[in-house]
Amino acid sequence: MNILLVGSGGREHAFAWKLAQSKKLSKLLIAPGNAGTEYLGQNISISPLDFESIGNLCEKEHIEMVVVGPEEPLVKGIRNYFESKSSLKKILFVGPDRAGALLEGSKDFAKDFMNRHQIPTAKHFTATRHSLEQGLEFLRTLSPPYVLKADGLAAGKGVLILNDLEKAKSELKNILNGRFGEAGERVVIEEFLTGIELSVFVITDGKNYLLLPEAKDYKRIGEQDTGPNTGGMGSVSPVPFADEAFMEKVEGKIIKPTIHGLISEGIDYRGFVFFGIMNVEGNPYVIEYNCRMGDPETEAVFPRIKTDLVDILVACGNQTLDLMSLDIDDRTVVSVMLVSGGYPNEYKKGLEIRLGSPENCLVFHAGTRRENDKLLTNGGRVMAISCFGYSMDQAKETCMSHAEAVHFEGKYYRRDIGSDLSD
Ligand code: AMP
Ligand code: GLY
Repeated sequence: MNILLVGSGGREHAFAWKLAQSKKLSKLLIAPGNAGTEYLGQNISISPLDFESIGNLCEKEHIEMVVVGPEEPLVKGIRNYFESKSSLKKILFVGPDRAGALLEGSKDFAKDFMNRHQIPTAKHFTATRHSLEQGLEFLRTLSPPYVLKADGLAAGKGVLILNDLEKAKSELKNILNGRFGEAGERVVIEEFLTGIELSVFVITDGKNYLLLPEAKDYKRIGEQDTGPNTGGMGSVSPVPFADEAFMEKVEGKIIKPTIHGLISEGIDYRGFVFFGIMNVEGNPYVIEYNCRMGDPETEAVFPRIKTDLVDILVACGNQTLDLMSLDIDDRTVVSVMLVSGGYPNEYKKGLEIRLGSPENCLVFHAGTRRENDKLLTNGGRVMAISCFGYSMDQAKETCMSHAEAVHFEGKYYRRDIGSDLSD
């Protein structure tokens, strides 16, 4: 099978790595990919948002399946583009259309969807410039901290958590006045939920779904979850507190009502659904939906899936996921992100990377490129190192020793990934 993978991060390197293991793969193209994916297929320098060039590439290269990693092309309708062209609509497509991607593309839509289907989530009010007064009134009914979310995509930066009511009121006005651009024309004001977060994933074909291994993401830059939020500093899978009883609640109260809700609203969702879940004293609440796999969670989740990924994705496209089951490695994976010094603020690019000799671990490139045979940094999150262990501690120890062995100027990583969940 000829497959085109869209995206360029650590998540896409993990997808490419898993696809490349399949005997069913004939040709893998990655648009645009990174210095890690180029060994697994052919990188093609096309932007994920240039639908026309992606469509032309698919025709020229006889692509039979397209898999989309990041949210932005999905929210902007890449699937709708493929469905609108007679030459492209026969291609199997993994990723929802614009209507399905609204689960991530509009936090207001997601909250209303959850309320329509009785899915547990924090109570909220959506404010616009016209309903500012009601928004301020709703804020006064909450106790601190206050959660404000720009409705649209804001590159992971659209959520503010504020301790002070006056500050929350002024930030609400700032967002409505354009602090996050168009994404903030509507602002979801939310009750703060106290608990511990985890990421749950399914792949659905619009009728059936398969539950993937869950993961925990470490979002803050500093150890012990301090400092600003980042795109993700590491992840672990499985998550010890996500035991059978808890996951039964997640399936019964969240996953099934979501899949049934999509069907009942006529949304033909084929792709991954990512549930950002807060465990509040043993009860799961949805913090957010994403219309894709997580990054860096995929770098811990995919190594644990033994089943052929091409088979899973074909079943997703053909609506035969009910005939599939997943074979999961029950070992633990710890994945740590090596980031550029200064990230998530300003950082240098183009610094040479020396990899050491990574044995018994997986290296998933994120922000890297190759120039004259040299491997160079090309982003804030540079690469994820993922290692297996028979316990969290063992996986973590192996992971940290490999993270230490990679060299580039200014390299930083969190040494405490998984420490809060140690066995
Ligand atoms: P989001 O982009 O919706 O995932 O929000 C970013 C982060 O803010 C989440 O991962 C949570 O850590 C936090 N967060 C969002 N909503 C809430 C909430 N209602 N209560 C507590 N924390 C939240
Ligand atoms: N790890 C969080 C995300 O992918 O949005």
